[in-house]
Amino acid sequence: NLETLRSDGHYLVEPAIGKLACGYEGKGRLPEPIEILSAITALVNYPKDMKGKKILITAGASREDIDPMRFITNHSTGKMGLALAKAAYWRGAEVTLIHAWMDEEPPYYINSIKALKADSMHREVMLIAAKQDIIIMTAAVADYTIANPSAEKIKKSGDLALQLTRTKDILAEIGSDKLIGQKLVGFAAESENVVENARLKLEKKNLDAIVANHISVSGSDSTEITIISKHSEQSLVGSKSEIAHRIIDFLIDKN
Ligand code: CTP
Repeated sequence: NLETLRSDGHYLVEPAIGKLACGYEGKGRLPEPIEILSAITALVNYPKDMKGKKILITAGASREDIDPMRFITNHSTGKMGLALAKAAYWRGAEVTLIHAWMDEEPPYYINSIKALKADSMHREVMLIAAKQDIIIMTAAVADYTIANPSAEKIKKSGDLALQLTRTKDILAEIGSDKLIGQKLVGFAAESENVVENARLKLEKKNLDAIVANHISVSGSDSTEITIISKHSEQSLVGSKSEIAHRIIDFLIDKN
């Protein structure tokens, strides 16, 4: 039935996966209303202008283990990355989402790979980076990891000093060896001199564009960003879903 609908030229919001009325788990649930709404919004308002394009998006907050019970992380929730993945999907792109911890599970229709730690995200990204037309890195990747994570739960006794070592900068690594025609976009969450700091990262990591925002938008459904490329700068305010589409417009139209 789905094939018939597809060949008749209809767009499909595929059934969701989960517990079914007949008592087992599988693909066959009514998708969440928000998924149906975001599909309709994208189909009504935007062309399928990413058809044939491969896009990789990273999202979420990495977790660096201290011991089997504890880890170091940050306040990123993955919302902006998820919004970008959905927007690109509904505009026809072949999307891969590589994500660390997110407050929300990625939707069933997005090809998702979980990589909780900075080094596993680095590995997963490097495996497929060369095949992508566009790479957008929204993930809040840890800049430091624990030098010697403990195999057993650490028992308390007096003060404790953790030794941290630098992780690999995934975005900078791809930027330093960027393929011709590939678009590379970073995110910069800053607490001060937002645009200036982001512009430095654009240059340093050899990016085509960087999305700058204040750290205060983390976790919220709306955002305020400045998208910066070598020759242009645009400030936008709106829901993360709206802004995701505007970022894609910016990448497709102007650069
Ligand atoms: N990033 C990455 N790999 C890392 C760290 C960051 O790919 N190990 C990416 C993020 O996904 C984001 C951008 O780099 O797109 C953020 O730039 P960065 O300079 O690392 O920002 P911060 O981690 O906030 O570092 P700083 O303390 O220098 O501001």
